Amino acid sequence: GLKITVIGGGSSYTPELIEGLITRANELPVKEIHLVDIEEGKKKLNVIFELTRRMIKKAGLKTQVYQTVDRKKAIKDSDFILTQIRVGGLKARALDEKIPLKYNMIGQETTGAGGFAKALRTMPVILDICREIEILAPNAWLINFTNPVSIITEMVLKHTNVKTIGLCNVPIGMINNIAKILGYESKRLKIDFVGLNHMVYGKRVYLDGQDITSDVLNELAEGKTVTMKNIPDLVWDKDFLYALGMIPCPYHRYFYMADEMLEDEKKALNEKGTRAEQVMKIESALFNLYQDNELNIKPKELEERGGAYYSDAAVSLISAIYNDKEEIHTVNIHNNGAVLGLEQDVVVEINAVIGKSGAKGIATGKLPTNIKGLIQTVKAYELLTVEAGMSGDYNTALMALVSNPLVPSIKVAKKVLNDILIENANNLPQF
Ligand code: NAD
Ligand code: G6P
Ligand code: MN
Ligand code: MN
Repeated sequence: GLKITVIGGGSSYTPELIEGLITRANELPVKEIHLVDIEEGKKKLNVIFELTRRMIKKAGLKTQVYQTVDRKKAIKDSDFILTQIRVGGLKARALDEKIPLKYNMIGQETTGAGGFAKALRTMPVILDICREIEILAPNAWLINFTNPVSIITEMVLKHTNVKTIGLCNVPIGMINNIAKILGYESKRLKIDFVGLNHMVYGKRVYLDGQDITSDVLNELAEGKTVTMKNIPDLVWDKDFLYALGMIPCPYHRYFYMADEMLEDEKKALNEKGTRAEQVMKIESALFNLYQDNELNIKPKELEERGGAYYSDAAVSLISAIYNDKEEIHTVNIHNNGAVLGLEQDVVVEINAVIGKSGAKGIATGKLPTNIKGLIQTVKAYELLTVEAGMSGDYNTALMALVSNPLVPSIKVAKKVLNDILIENANNLPQF
């Protein structure tokens, strides 16, 4: 049987993952689940541990569940390791969302200056985890959910020997959303994805193999929206959609509608606080539910979080590897020539064939000129951020920020960088 380790096991998302493992128990013989967290997370971890045990019991499975703060012990001989950590917690996220707003920039968990700060905090921890995996579980697969997924996956593939795949719920969310708009079952839809994490485009949409991209664009042009709980569903401009000729992802609003999104964010700040502050409330309500000894399934309220469907994405991916399914999933992996217009050794989010040996990216051809500039720019920003996060070099960090399309000038970049370095000092050992 398999040993699966979840780092950041105290996450409120964990029941989603457990549900996924239960649903696929017939194809995935999981012997042990190890939930790992840190000292500060022990209380949450315990609640998740007890709920997990009740869920497993209710499902009639024999899987053994463990909780621990001894990360190395959990990692040792694991088959699959999932990382879903938030270094600095939601307090740090709230700062990521607020600091850029001071300078009239979008403050967001994974994009712009906020995502940059999260990357710098997260890289040293993931690097430590990878050093342990290299020694204690060299054959394990690391399935990384920790944001910013693009940058973290880029770092792991460039600087460690760990086999990793970066995963996000945006692609599967787009399929499910579009299926709902058109009134079809989502398993009949396929999308050719190309781009980067939170910067991915649906190039073509197929229904039972027939290209229906223009139908989808028509629906979006009429004001139907494809989004997720954490992103305001501002309607796309009709002329823009037809000019683009592809399906943008929900996060693209931060780039193409930066002004309106900023206004929306400022308004929301006064009414309900930043997303981190909203999530604090959702999370405490969730943990109240989780503590109920009668509860033995994933509660519906978890759908208030942005990560809907993530267990589907994660567990079906694990099963595709374990069962050598050679099945198509949308993942973050090395380009290796699948996207012409980006270097071979950079991470892209694309469709890939998944089997025992890992992911083989499917060729997407030349990057269309419509999207090439933005993707190349953001990729350069990501590469510079990896370099800055590894070295702790101030100038590289400045160059990364200046290269980000959501940062307007050197002057603002310097101010926001100073704030980031001061406010996150406890979590930036590399600086
Ligand atoms: P959370 O605040 O609940 O954190 C998860 C757990 O990580 C907590 O229990 C915390 O104690 C623990 N943790 C913090 N630092 C740690 C460390 N150094 N080592 C081990 N554990 C540590 O966060 P969340 O809302 O569950 O999100 C977790 C992560 O997953 C975030 O990075 C978030 O951005 C990401 N996420 C990604 C996707 C995706 O699409 N890829 C979807 C949802 C969430
Ligand atoms: C989406 C994104 C994740 C992100 C999450 C935020 O699912 O794909 O990468 O972490 O939303 O959701 P939250 O509920 O924390 O705001
Ligand atoms: Mn994501
Ligand atoms: Mn989150």
